[in-house]
Amino acid sequence: MTTIVGQSVPRIDAKEKVTGAAQYSGDIVMPGMLHMKLLFADRPHARVLSIDTSAAEALAGVAAVLTAKDVPVNEYGLQINDQPVLCGPGSSKAGGDIIRFVGDQVAIVVAETEQIAAKAVKLIKVEYENLPVITDAEEAIKPGAYALHPEIGVSNICVHDKIRKGDVEAAFAKSDVIVEGEYRVPVQEHAYLQPEAGVAYVDENGLLTIKAAGQWTHADQKQIAHALGLPQDQVRVQYPVIGGAFGGREDMSVQIVLALAAFKLKRPVKTIWSRKESLFGHGKRHAMVIRAKWGATKDGKLTAAETTFIADGGAYMYTSNKVLGNATITQTGPYYIPNFKSDVYGVYTNNVPGAAFRGFGAPQAQFMAEMQMNKLAEKLGLDLVEFRLRNTLKEGDTLDVQTPAVGPISTVQVIEAAARRAGWDKTSQGWKRVENGQSAAGKSPSNLVRGVGLAAGFKNIGFSFGYKDNCWARVEIYGNGSIERVVVYNAAAEVGQGNHTILAQLAAEAIGISFDKVEMITMDTLNMGSAGSASASRLTFMSGNAVKGAAERARAKWDAEERPVVVEYTYFAPETTPFDKETGECLPNFAYAYVAQAAEVEVDTETGQIRVLKIISADDVGKAINPAQVEGQIEGGVVQAIGYVMMENYISRDGYVLTDQFSTYLIPTILDIPVKVESLVVEVPDERGPWGARGLGELPYLPMAPAIMAAVHDATGVWFDEFPLTPERVLRGLGKI
Ligand code: MOS
Repeated sequence: MTTIVGQSVPRIDAKEKVTGAAQYSGDIVMPGMLHMKLLFADRPHARVLSIDTSAAEALAGVAAVLTAKDVPVNEYGLQINDQPVLCGPGSSKAGGDIIRFVGDQVAIVVAETEQIAAKAVKLIKVEYENLPVITDAEEAIKPGAYALHPEIGVSNICVHDKIRKGDVEAAFAKSDVIVEGEYRVPVQEHAYLQPEAGVAYVDENGLLTIKAAGQWTHADQKQIAHALGLPQDQVRVQYPVIGGAFGGREDMSVQIVLALAAFKLKRPVKTIWSRKESLFGHGKRHAMVIRAKWGATKDGKLTAAETTFIADGGAYMYTSNKVLGNATITQTGPYYIPNFKSDVYGVYTNNVPGAAFRGFGAPQAQFMAEMQMNKLAEKLGLDLVEFRLRNTLKEGDTLDVQTPAVGPISTVQVIEAAARRAGWDKTSQGWKRVENGQSAAGKSPSNLVRGVGLAAGFKNIGFSFGYKDNCWARVEIYGNGSIERVVVYNAAAEVGQGNHTILAQLAAEAIGISFDKVEMITMDTLNMGSAGSASASRLTFMSGNAVKGAAERARAKWDAEERPVVVEYTYFAPETTPFDKETGECLPNFAYAYVAQAAEVEVDTETGQIRVLKIISADDVGKAINPAQVEGQIEGGVVQAIGYVMMENYISRDGYVLTDQFSTYLIPTILDIPVKVESLVVEVPDERGPWGARGLGELPYLPMAPAIMAAVHDATGVWFDEFPLTPERVLRGLGKI
């Protein structure tokens, strides 16, 4: 029996957020604070020949103008150090004088006011030599294409993952049906509430401190220290309240330049990017072209799949290697496919970098997988639920990496839950939709047609491919006769998902005290071990296990009369292994979670407008630690995915971003979201997670696009292999224009 785990306790950060008391990165004000503005390159590919900062420096109120020559170690990156901090002559690293996308930075100006800094930026004179611009990943991948990172290699291919499982050719030859498709998935902007912002200063003890929202304090600390040529313990990273992240804050933005300026000037320095700077200056979801050929037998069993991915990595690696690794392992969908061949490429271009974004490669890969499933079902004359259920991954079935998925597999449970709720049922001829979604169409004007679709997905929980995933926590118990107060230390980032509330619930449960006795100290590098990132849907599992482990040990010491109790504990996840370079064979992950979603849409065949009427999302979270938060995550994920598939249209041309405002890059508002989102919380525990919890953050995003496509096909008979489903694209697909 649990008492606090499983309850929808109010979020511990709710009050300060709804009252406006919460301090986000941009809200911080310090005495004697200076302001920073950046000179962005605003060109996609060029060599910086010279920079003349004299006029800017001469402007009254300017404290400093810094360029590449002022950066001690002019390189950074979360995975590899391929990005200069500032681009220009005098760089300490080769290639640091090259601009590779419009968001590259040439100089920073620090001044007494924002206005003076902005004015001074305009006084900087830069001489550029433009270089050939490559913005099409399919061009960039060709042998002989202009190499964008010659110091790394002569090819622009920055990632190549291979899957070789079984004999695809032989299996295709024995297949009764084969479906071939080409899918194009777009860039997506994270659109978090607050653009990139932060403050850096040297504190009273001489410690260089950076306060800027991120997803992993210790990873930021390491990169900042590297670029400044400082030992890691001379840099402190602390997160203020974070207005959303979604993967977009995994890679850094303002941190190093702020730290550099504060370290040189020994005064606090602040910057806030404009929305426009945020829209062109920092990574986005990867656009990909995915080609696929899948086969099945006439009794509806998958036989083989062959796929090629070309992902636009943009100018720098960011996390492309890991994102594409995830795309590689999740591209089967939650199905068993005995033979699989795949080549997944990431390619450098002069576009804005491809970055982590909720789902981390899986939404793109599973769009392909589920569209192939939809089309195979159609070709076989099978109901799409029935076809899926004939192929679901079962315990012991191998993934494309030739090892089974670890942990209890719940694909059947989530598909059946979503399907029943959306009007399907098991009949004597297998699963069928017994409530016809089209029935309403007869009563509507003839230009309004309705359809229902369903798709499924799965996602790893935690860091993959041999990284020894770990998370540190400390629990202190105070009191004498009875416990008065518990203090939990864990660096995990609260990016809006509710993690700190979950951790307080888990600590209270493990120690056996009321929730309000728990105090959380979080999001810091000082006196704290690493929690790992708020990513890969991993925190409930990882920081949950760390806090639970520390709390249980602390409770035992309390019971043994130790006063006060202080326990530090690091949770290590089960081991994983990296891809075999030739076959992809590995044990990539230690946990998974499963999801299925149904969508009902109404298509206006005269205008091309589509309304999403209803979404049903069945998510296996293992154990809902806080059911209200689970529903919140599901609703948020659904709305974000609806933006992706229906309307968000990030347009760049020749490396320049055209949709660089929210007036042109449209995200869903209240009028664009479904009339109803039904969350079906499925709980098939994974006993290695705390109280059986798996992870949820990315799950409700994964199969939304293909579920909607199946619904649109049900309504119109047309498959859309590319999105967003703007009215223009819909009308073209319907043959109306
Ligand atoms: Mo996430 S997209 O794993 O930050």
